[in-house]
Parts: sequence; structure tokens; C-alpha cells
Amino acid sequence: MRDMILVGFLQAQNCSNFAGSWRHPDSRSDFASPEYYAHIGKVLEAGKFQLAFFDDRLGMPEFHGGRFAEAIEHGIRSVKMDPIACMMPMAMATTRLGLGATYSVSYYQPYHVARLFMTLDHMTKGRAAWNVVTSMNDIEAQNMGMERSVAHDLRYDRADEFMDVVLGHWGTWADGSVIYNRETRRFGDASKVRRIDHVGEHFRSRGPFTVPRSSQGHPLIIQAGQSGRGRKFAAQWGEAIFTSNPNLEPAIQNYTDLKADAVNLGRNPDHMLICQLCHPVVAPTRAEAEDKFAFVETLPTLEDSLMLLSENNNFDFGSKGIDEPFTAAELDSMSGSQGGKDRVVAAIKDRMPSPRDFITITRRGKLPPPWVGSPKDVADKFEEWFTAKACDGFVVGAACVPGSYEDFVTLVVPELQRRGLFQKDYKGATLRENLGLPRPVVER
Ligand SMILES: Cc1cc2nc3c(=O)[nH]c(=O)nc-3n(C[C@H](O)[C@H](O)[C@H](O)COP(=O)(O)O)c2cc1C
Repeated sequence: MRDMILVGFLQAQNCSNFAGSWRHPDSRSDFASPEYYAHIGKVLEAGKFQLAFFDDRLGMPEFHGGRFAEAIEHGIRSVKMDPIACMMPMAMATTRLGLGATYSVSYYQPYHVARLFMTLDHMTKGRAAWNVVTSMNDIEAQNMGMERSVAHDLRYDRADEFMDVVLGHWGTWADGSVIYNRETRRFGDASKVRRIDHVGEHFRSRGPFTVPRSSQGHPLIIQAGQSGRGRKFAAQWGEAIFTSNPNLEPAIQNYTDLKADAVNLGRNPDHMLICQLCHPVVAPTRAEAEDKFAFVETLPTLEDSLMLLSENNNFDFGSKGIDEPFTAAELDSMSGSQGGKDRVVAAIKDRMPSPRDFITITRRGKLPPPWVGSPKDVADKFEEWFTAKACDGFVVGAACVPGSYEDFVTLVVPELQRRGLFQKDYKGATLRENLGLPRPVVER
């Protein structure tokens, strides 16, 4: 029997991935304290979540010409701290919860990322995961020494080579490399460690790598590319794949396609776990949940949406009238998230879309289309998607933090457990054990 996977969608910032969440009274304001992250970790572990993961972005949203005042004034994701540093208090407060962080392959060297995450895997006793992103945003590029982000498909080509280097280094210390025998004065077995001597199109990295293998072999690889090229990359490398399909039928198709892609690439499809992003709004009764959601809908401002659309598409949405159609040239010049733009263009067939269309279709700046209802209503949705094989699990987003996770763990988790869909306890010590994934072995 498949076991449902639950992932907490966390941010090292002043809000959840819903920018208006900081305005909610059930959000804690101490987001810059270790206690905040420790508390969230404890809540998710009490709810037997297999994984918590932090997203990342290397910059602040802004309008054209570098106008960032609205981001600060309205708190539109104006804080963005390093996810790994924020994860450490969470790691210290938990023992079983998997812990993932996003790191970009466009702005760091693969050796650095390989070392950071393998170290993290030791410090969490085999609970670490890396969400591999290519980064889509020019603001990030300008913070990290470049003018523009790398062109869409090229950044995935570079990312493929980046993965070769990281996984190459992770595979250089075979099991049994460390001997640590004081009597024979032998620390390690040199025959079990090698260099990778990588010289590629985009990267050079020699080795030997300086971190031995962790208890789970190496950190879990997460990927969430939504475009065609992004999905190809995910099928190649992702052990957990995050999807955000708005509807069930396309999600089933996407699930089937991704698993088939994995088989075609020689992978075991059961070793690729597909987790769908969702935003439950739950209360003891349906009427109360609807009231809760109605309140959440009062939180966003128009600036939230326009600014976050600008950030995602590398185009100044503040420069257009709200109902002014984009020209074909303007649409062409948008260079950020291909997946989001494609969805808008596909939905508006008979005319050119406007900023309002982008807001309505993507709901950017608002809480993404939530599942609202009683514990039974929400559990029904989880069961429907899971049993229809639209996904293997869920990335649970929050209208407010920690309030949404406290509600979910108290109200929905027991209902999923009662139905036999979700684990009542952890299965093992490492993240791979808790996800039912084998430990990658390196023999030499
Ligand atoms: C649940 C989820 C979390 C994501 N987290 C991040 C993130 O932290 N940073 C980021 O740049 N993109 C993030 N993304 C976006 C994708 O990783 C990807 O970068 C984006 O879709 C653009 O790639 P595409 O052009 O292939 O669609 C996330 C997507 C999903 C569904």
C-alpha cells in the first residue's frame, strides 16, 4: 500500500508563500527568531509530516527602475533569510522530520552546494533534502554578479551539468571509507575515495571531496520545474517532485507522464515521489472554514499581486493599466517562470491577456486556490487526489504560520490517519527511510 507524503512549505521570511499572511492575527511576528522555526518544526513533527522544506529567492520583489518601497511598506516578501541557517533550530528541535532547503544552481558553485548539503545531512542525522532551482529572476541575477538571469533552457542545461558534479562528488566516498582506528593509526581507506576531475562546458571541479557519506547516502533531491524543459529536468533528477496543477485531470495526466519519463530514463518510478502543492483552509465546520477563507481574502493588496507578478515574469506589471492588454512583444519579453505565463496564454484564447487576467488566473499575490472546509471535506480532497494517482503526497502551503499548520495537524491529520491514508508514526530514522526510498550505495 502507498503511504501518503506530507510536506510543509516553509519560508525563511516574514510571511508564508502567501505574501499577505503576515497581516493575519494567527501569524507569529518573531519570524527572525530561532524559537519561531523550532515551534513550526515541533508542530509538523507532532503531525508526522515526513518533510519540511524552505523555498528561496535571492532578492526582494520590485517594480521597474528598482522601486522597492511597496515591498517594504506592504511586507511583500521583503525579508528573505538564508534557509539553511533558519533550518538549524528546527533540526535541533526535532528528531524525525525531514528538512529541505532550496539552493540555486545558477549562482553557486557545485562544490560549495555539494559540501553544504552533505554537511547538513550529517548535522540532521540523515534528514536533509535539497530543492534544486535554476532561478528565474533578474533581481536575483543583479544581486549575484550578473545583469540578467540565464536564458530559460540554457539554465536547465547548466543545471544538468551542475547535478553531474554534485552527485559525482557525493559518490566519491564509498561506504567504509572512514576507518578511524587509533591503534593502527589509520583514519581512512584511500582505495575507497576518488576524485571526479570534472571538466565540463560550464563547470570545473576536481576533488577529492571533503565530506564523507551520510547515514542516508546523500541528501534527497527535490525539483519543481513546471515548464516542459523544467519537467524533463525533474524527471531526470528529482526524487521528490513538487507540482502545482490546479485541476485533477491534468494532474493525473502529469503524474502518469512524469512516471513514464522516469521509466524511459531508466529510473524506478516508485523512487520518484510526486507531491502536489495545496492550501487547505480548515475549521471544525464548513461554515467556519468559509468564514476563515473570506477573512483571508481581505488580506492581499493589489500591489502584492502586481509586484509578485513583476518578480516572476521579469516585467513591470506596475507600468500597465490593470485592464490594458499586453502586446505580443511584451508577452514575448517576459522571461521568468515559463509555466505561469503559459497557463495564462492558454486560458485566454480570443484576445491578449491583461494584468488582471494574470491575477485572476495565477492568483499571484493571493492565497492560491485553497481547499476550504471541515476536516472531512479537506480529507476528502486529499483522498481523492491521492487515490486517483494525481500525486503521492502533498506540499501543504499556509494562509498563516504557524496557525494553518496547527489547524491542519489538529483537524486533518487525525482524519487522514483514521482513513488509513497517512502514517501514525515515523517508519525510520532517516528521511529516505521515512519516504520508503532505498539508500543509494557506493561500493568500491
Ligand atoms: C512547491 C513549489 C516550490 C517552489 N519553490 C521555489 C523556490 O524556492 N525558488 C524558486 O526559484 N522557484 C521555486 N519554485 C518554482 C520552480 O522550481 C521553478 O523554478 C519555476 O517553476 C520556474 O521554472 P519553469 O520555467 O520550469 O516553470 C517552486 C515551485 C513549486 C511548485
